[in-house]
Amino acid sequence: MVRRIVVKFGGALITKKDEQSVAHTEIIRNLCSVVHSLTEENIHVIIVHGAGSFGHLKAKRWRLNEGLIADLHIVGDACRSQVEAVAEVRQDMLELNSIVVAELESFGLKVCSHPPHTWATNLGPRFSGSVDRFLTTDPATVHVTFGDVVDVDDERVFGILSGDDLVARISLEVPHVESLIFAMGGVDGLLRVPPSEATELDLIAEWSPDVEYQGLHQSDIDVTGGIGLKINRGHLVAQSGIGVHLINGEHPDRIAAIVRLQSWRGTTILP
Ligand code: IPE
Repeated sequence: MVRRIVVKFGGALITKKDEQSVAHTEIIRNLCSVVHSLTEENIHVIIVHGAGSFGHLKAKRWRLNEGLIADLHIVGDACRSQVEAVAEVRQDMLELNSIVVAELESFGLKVCSHPPHTWATNLGPRFSGSVDRFLTTDPATVHVTFGDVVDVDDERVFGILSGDDLVARISLEVPHVESLIFAMGGVDGLLRVPPSEATELDLIAEWSPDVEYQGLHQSDIDVTGGIGLKINRGHLVAQSGIGVHLINGEHPDRIAAIVRLQSWRGTTILP
């Protein structure tokens, strides 16, 4: 019986959010160490990572989430056009991906990386592109993909495909996924009050649509959907019977605890 999990490494967890292209290498290493231990227990792991400062800052400045805007110029920017910015963000994402891949490989894992701009088009949870590529029969092979700028088949020409949309389709379409785990930065899960005001007691252990939550959505720097998008896509996945959990990725042992059915701190999204 195959056991498979999908883990999203949030961009705010694995990068310094407000400094262009700086990765939190130690956090990535600790996450990869847990992934390695799980593969030794025959768990198949699919990793989807976010962008953080490798993606959001330039994408926001060049309004890449809005698609092609005729004659957009930014005085004093090293990029001359949106089209150049698309190429640069894709390159920056490949750079972040290579950091994640190198950390996984340092634990002896085989890694298959799937940059979305090479196989996916269109946006949202029904984007185009087969997710069969994430199937594997060998738990020592870890598949990795990430939020990216992809081509869009209409007048927008391109747009941002979030890792949160990728995890939704992968969890729903690749067989035997038992859990989808969002590893986030700076919070233990979903909170009832804004993170800056929260105490230990404000963690929501189980979320269903009637439970109110607060989350920080830094719409000034975030071109995708923040916590609201995770909850929305997570809820979609939970409805198919897959366990969906939000944890603090600075404590990656919580990922292992979920898989090993031990106790852990975080939020479960109920169907
Ligand atoms: C965003 O992907 C991709 C780009 C901005 C290029 P995500 O939505 O998965 O990223 P995070 O987790 O919010 O950083």
